Amino acid sequence: MRTLIVGHGGRESALASRMAEHSELHAFLGHENPTIVRHAAASGGSHALGDVCDPTAVAAFARAREIDIAMVSADEPLAAGVVDALLAQGTAAVGPTSAGAEIEWNKTFARSLLGEVAPEASPLLHVAHDRREVERAIDAFGSRPVAVKPPGLTGGKGVKVMGPHLSSHDDARDYAISLLEGGKAGEGVHIEEKITGAEFTIQAISDGSTVVFPPSTYDYPFRHDGDDGPGTGGMGSLTMPAATLPFMTAAHYDAACSIIERVIARLAELGRHFTGVMNSGFFATADGVKVIEFNARFGDPECMNIMTLLDGSWPEVMQQIVARSLTPAAVRLRREASLVLYLVSPDYALRPGRPYEFSLDRERIEGEGCAVYFSSAVGAGDSLYRTVGTSRAVALAAGAPTLAEARARVVACAETVPVLEWRRDVGDESYLGGLSRLVHPHPAAEEESQLLNPS
Ligand code: GLY
Repeated sequence: MRTLIVGHGGRESALASRMAEHSELHAFLGHENPTIVRHAAASGGSHALGDVCDPTAVAAFARAREIDIAMVSADEPLAAGVVDALLAQGTAAVGPTSAGAEIEWNKTFARSLLGEVAPEASPLLHVAHDRREVERAIDAFGSRPVAVKPPGLTGGKGVKVMGPHLSSHDDARDYAISLLEGGKAGEGVHIEEKITGAEFTIQAISDGSTVVFPPSTYDYPFRHDGDDGPGTGGMGSLTMPAATLPFMTAAHYDAACSIIERVIARLAELGRHFTGVMNSGFFATADGVKVIEFNARFGDPECMNIMTLLDGSWPEVMQQIVARSLTPAAVRLRREASLVLYLVSPDYALRPGRPYEFSLDRERIEGEGCAVYFSSAVGAGDSLYRTVGTSRAVALAAGAPTLAEARARVVACAETVPVLEWRRDVGDESYLGGLSRLVHPHPAAEEESQLLNPS
């Protein structure tokens, strides 16, 4: 079987490495990602550089390489219609068409659909299109804190919340107006109630009707330890051996899965082609779950958690998805914890930046039981690499029976990589305990210990 990966991030590196185990892998990417290029070559496949958001160029590459199934896994190519172009020429593809992916690239559409299928999980929202509507929306919340969100794709960086990012309602108003001034005409801005709780995601895998639910993931979106600094694409992520995270209950997980099922069913009713992954963000609260957003693809880094746990063959899952015959048995995941840590340039998310050179002994790290997934980096000589662009450089990932073991393994490997920076609190138990207190404000001591160490 010939497969195609479109994209060049850590997420695509993890997918590529699993695809190359069971297929001849070809890659269409924006820079020579060392993980993807190596796996494509080792599987007997090829790679080409180009604009991953150019549907015509991707489709031509797929045709030339006689691809059986393509995997389109990044938000921008999906929004640009890369899957539409592949399907139109008869190339099977995992991932939604642009209409299916609107659930991610148009948050006003997403919220309207959510209101139809799960109003109970919908935070109170005002969509404002001009200065006056912004003023009215802020006034409507009175003294209650708000979150301000652009409705389009932002790579996880546009949302600002009172408390961590905005110190007052005046700040929230000014930020909303600045988004309106910088946004596309008619797009508006979302002003939403701030939810108290802890965030989790579920990366549901679907062929458009059957939905398979992996364990919940937790992502660390902020640049510095203690959730300080600007928002990023994600500095690390984890899963536990159970389907839930330490701060969640089974009821939170079940309610979230049920909402995802309803959203995918509604997209099908609307005639919007959706296959692949519905990476859905939720708040676990004392009062059930609230939806944050839907992403029409695996998360980055969260995809790496699932690829770490996968015991089966990802190309087999892809085959079942495009044949509309997905079975939960094909998505065999080890019941272990997993931890992913992104190592980033010192400039990442802080300033424009320059290329940094760093050394990394891939074989030694893999020998220690960690996977290495390059992202915004290229090879620069023997065990030498150079950061490119403005995104994260390289991720390390490991699975183990406990989170503490997975974390210890990843951290020991991260310590061997000079120059790059990483968050020291990813997977830290006291951090996770703090999240539990947001969801369960007054747990008894025994209950708190059970949340952190579920039996
Ligand atoms: N880690 C956040 C995202 O992939 O959207």
